[in-house]
Amino acid sequence: MTDQQANSDVDRLPQHVAVIMDGNGRWAQARHMPRTAGHRAGVKAARTLIRECGNRGIRVLTLFAFSSENWRRPQQEVSMLMDLMLRTLRKEASELHQNKVRIRIVGDRSRLGEALNRAIEQVEHLTAGNAGIELVVAVSYGGRWDIADACRRLAERVAAGEIQASDIDEAAVGGAMALADLPPPDLLIRTGGECRLSNFLLWQLAYAELFFSETLWPDFDADDLRQALAWFAGRQRRFGAVQPSLGRRERA
Ligand code: FPP
Repeated sequence: MTDQQANSDVDRLPQHVAVIMDGNGRWAQARHMPRTAGHRAGVKAARTLIRECGNRGIRVLTLFAFSSENWRRPQQEVSMLMDLMLRTLRKEASELHQNKVRIRIVGDRSRLGEALNRAIEQVEHLTAGNAGIELVVAVSYGGRWDIADACRRLAERVAAGEIQASDIDEAAVGGAMALADLPPPDLLIRTGGECRLSNFLLWQLAYAELFFSETLWPDFDADDLRQALAWFAGRQRRFGAVQPSLGRRERA
């Protein structure tokens, strides 16, 4: 195999997959179960996906677990989701660590409770040195919040005299946002049949390929992932240019 062929094969696997896990409520309702049962089943599907992506050599997996807008759900569901998040982090931390998964949480932590914040710090600290798949869980996250947060932090640096307003360009804004140190998602998967971004990673998804699946999240399995990756492998990515043949290194 030539170097060029090897590079193009690597290029066909997304480095970074982002997922909007939608359809938990409908999955539960179809079984005459409470919505909360759908969220619990959703955690199982997330475990499968993390394992499959790790086995396939995907470098980063970002899961949208709770959006800025999800705070508007009934208080009981919000509390259940926060509790599920806390229990999942505590329960799964050591196995994920054994599997060399590096975990980070992105989002507005000021809205999360003390116990959840503590669990987040612990799991991030525990797994910080791991060299396996990077798992990003977006909690209390919104793309608009992320952009506004980056702007505010840049404005603070201008006010402190560290940078000039004229220094603020795309690279500066992108560098001040969540996930700035990671490659942007190449592939977005949304389950549950809706075709929208729902305020997820608005900046970072600028050139992602968007894969919409009818499968409800708790049913999303290894075969659904295989289909999404096969679809991605057939996409021509032009990044606004005319020639489809730019290699990853040339684009960087
Ligand atoms: C959307 O389905 C799903 C959510 C708002 C919650 C997703 C969270 C999990 C699966 C827990 C994952 C936790 C970790 C730590 C990875 P929906 O309720 O909007 O479903 P619907 O559209 O059918 O009503």
